[in-house]
Amino acid sequence: MDPKFVVLMGGPGAGKGTQAKRLQVELQLPQISTGDIFRENLKNETELGKLAKTYMDKGELVPDEVTVAMVRDRISRPDCANGVLFDGFPRTIAQADALGALLAEFGAQVTVVPYIHVAGDVLLQRLAGRWTCTQCGHMYHILFNPPQTPGVCDLDGARLYQREDDTEETQRRRIDVYFAQTAPLIDYYRQKGLLAEIDGEQSIDAVYEALKQAIDQAA
Ligand code: AP5
Ligand code: MG
Ligand code: ZN
Repeated sequence: MDPKFVVLMGGPGAGKGTQAKRLQVELQLPQISTGDIFRENLKNETELGKLAKTYMDKGELVPDEVTVAMVRDRISRPDCANGVLFDGFPRTIAQADALGALLAEFGAQVTVVPYIHVAGDVLLQRLAGRWTCTQCGHMYHILFNPPQTPGVCDLDGARLYQREDDTEETQRRRIDVYFAQTAPLIDYYRQKGLLAEIDGEQSIDAVYEALKQAIDQAA
């Protein structure tokens, strides 16, 4: 089978992480979430983490050079040979150009770009109710996808937390930054014939099925 390099597009709260966590098991492809890698660095207080925090706290994008260097490093590892599920990368035209060039070095290219479409006001509701597992990273929503016991992960019993960048002010800024800097990628990938539009305002299961179909159909 040809390697599959899938770019999950969608605004903050569209469900990229929720879906990638599930898809990576079924498709046997690693999820590369640049947001998760930055948060991991933040937790470990690395230099990269300290730098990223100054941007993440404001809802701004980390500079392209930093993000691209980090992705370059990550996709050179052997577990990426059969493909990758990108979640939250690329986020600018410059990052998308860089990804194309990086993959070309491996004789590969982006396979498909499922765009999980969710309206701006719904994005805000999603972010406002999100709780994440401290252990496995599974995402819950207090209204749309609650855990069986409040504050506790169904899968491993670990404590749930709310992300530091999930203050109302930062959420709004992330959504604005998304429409200004990332949304232009929709046309960028549409013009390349790679975009697959997915209605993101369906149930988590329905979005999952639509995503799977789009990825399976992609050459
Ligand atoms: P990142 O971590 O990527 O955050 P984001 O893009 O703002 O997206 P989210 O993770 O908030 O949303 P998601 O789409 O994953 O939704 P989720 O599945 O959690 O980036 C954070 C920061 O890092 C950025 O602001 C930036 O500073 C930096 N950064 C990261 N990548 C970068 C890059 N490439 N370049 C520069 N800077 C970068 O779902 C949300 C909620 O909705 C959950 O509660 C979930 O349970 C619920 N939900 C999901 N699907 C459904 C559904 N179908 N119905 C009902 N509820 C649902
Ligand atoms: Mg996410
Ligand atoms: Zn968990």
